[in-house]
Amino acid sequence: MTTKLILRTGVKAFSNGYVYSRFCTGELSFCRTLPYKQFTRPLATKDDVEKNIQKYKEGKFGTLPDPDKLDHFRKSNDDKKQATSLQASTEDLPPLGTHALPHPIWTERELHSVEITHKPPEGFVDKAAYYTVQIMRTVFDVISGFKWGQTNEQKWLKRIIFLETVAGVPGMVAAMTRHLHSLRRMQRDYGWIHTLLEEAENERMHLMTALQLRQPGFMFRTGVIVAQGTFVTLFSFSYLISPRFCHRFVGYLEEEAVKTYTKCLKDIEDGNMQHWKTHPSPEFATRYWKLAPDATMKDVILAIRADEAHHRLVNHTLASMKETDYNPYKPGQ
Ligand SMILES: [Fe+2]
Ligand SMILES: [Fe+2]
Repeated sequence: MTTKLILRTGVKAFSNGYVYSRFCTGELSFCRTLPYKQFTRPLATKDDVEKNIQKYKEGKFGTLPDPDKLDHFRKSNDDKKQATSLQASTEDLPPLGTHALPHPIWTERELHSVEITHKPPEGFVDKAAYYTVQIMRTVFDVISGFKWGQTNEQKWLKRIIFLETVAGVPGMVAAMTRHLHSLRRMQRDYGWIHTLLEEAENERMHLMTALQLRQPGFMFRTGVIVAQGTFVTLFSFSYLISPRFCHRFVGYLEEEAVKTYTKCLKDIEDGNMQHWKTHPSPEFATRYWKLAPDATMKDVILAIRADEAHHRLVNHTLASMKETDYNPYKPGQ
């Protein structure tokens, strides 16, 4: 049976499985024997989404109802009246970060007690990881020109944005590799995957935060694409050969990240970035890190630095463990 749907393009699938539609013209044909209901998902109304966002903001994330059991959720596409009410513009979409994975929320004391630390490399693998990071950092500093001249907001944002596009790669590659190993070998994962995915998302949130203040241009985006293609390829092969090298590499990368954000905080305290002491935190960042309503960019950078220090600890720990050891970090820790 051929089922033909007249849909309008711009259909957006949310991670929680609901579909929010933007209607414009277009046609999709499904020439399979699938019954109609099998490839359509219940649609959430704008009100449903807003209610859930409100509950999320109030910290009732764990008590959200199962949407499949809600009567007011759409059960089929036949109701054209309701379809009209599902029209949504970009402004209607849930706020950035609403569906974020669990992650640590730092106390005031934790935010201010982050220190620059270094784990001395032990053995060939550690040394290889350490010197790889040092070479990468030196090359990046020279190419980006960050060290020359005075720092300013533009320079900081460029540096943060570029580095965070790279920092989000290892967790995702490592999680995917362990996931595929688990499937292929038909063995359990020992609980590492969620921590790695949380790290990847957390790094991506650092990127999303910086993007609230600056949108990169064409050349910058081209550089990011080239860097991502290269780094994903090299890191993926490296993870297949030596997960220990990769986690140690990330551990040393995070040591550098803590240094970078500490330097940024110093610049905010008494350098060229003092306006970030009063620059309001982007709404998304305030929500994601559960900051005070009057939080500033300084508070955001403190939270990001605490995240990096956490990644430093997690990856040095994972690098020192056997692949079959249980992950000591529970979700959100
Ligand atoms: Fe980061
Ligand atoms: Fe990090």
